[in-house]
Amino acid sequence: MKQGMKWAVALVVIGGAYFFLSRNPANVVLPVEDITVPQFSAEAAAGEVVFNGTCAACHGVNAAGTALGPALVSKIYQTRIHADFALRAAMENGVTPHHGRYAPMPPQEQITGAEVEILIAYIRELQQANGIN
Ligand code: HEC
Repeated sequence: MKQGMKWAVALVVIGGAYFFLSRNPANVVLPVEDITVPQFSAEAAAGEVVFNGTCAACHGVNAAGTALGPALVSKIYQTRIHADFALRAAMENGVTPHHGRYAPMPPQEQITGAEVEILIAYIRELQQANGIN
C-alpha cells in the first residue's frame, strides 16, 4: 500500500472512531464515584437538593449522567461553551439534543426562577471541584 493511502485509511479510521464516540451517549456518562463533591456554598447545597429531586433522574447523581441525559460535569458544559444563560435556557425551554443520541430534554416548568439560579450554582461548583471552569 502506498504511504499516502495508509495515511488516508488511518484518518478515516480515527475520524470514524471519533465520530462514533462523540455520538455515543455512554462516553458522557461518568462513574458517580469518580466525581469530586466539594464543600458546597449554602446556595449550591440547596441547588443539589433540587437537582436530586428534578434533574438527577436524567443527569444522574453528582450530575454524572445516565442513558437519559449527559453528565454536566463535563468540559462541554464549561462556562465558555455553555454560559449561565445557556443553562437557564435549557431549564426554561428544554433542549433539542446535540451531543449524543438522547431524547429531547423537556422544559422544566415545575422549577422556579430562584431554583434555576441555585441549580446553576450547584452545577458550577461541582464543575470547579472537578477541574472544569
Ligand atoms: C427527561 C430527562 C431530563 C431531565 C429531567 C433534565 N434534563 Fe437536562 N438534558 C437532558 C437531555 C437529553 C439533554 C440534551 C443532551 C444533548 O445535547 O445531547 C439535556 C441537556 C441539558 C443541559 C445542556 C444544555 C445545552 O444547551 O446543551 C443542561 C444545562 C441541563 N440539561 C440541565 C438540566 C437541569 C438543571 C435539570 C433539572 C432542572 C435537567 N436538565 C433536567 C435530559 C434531561
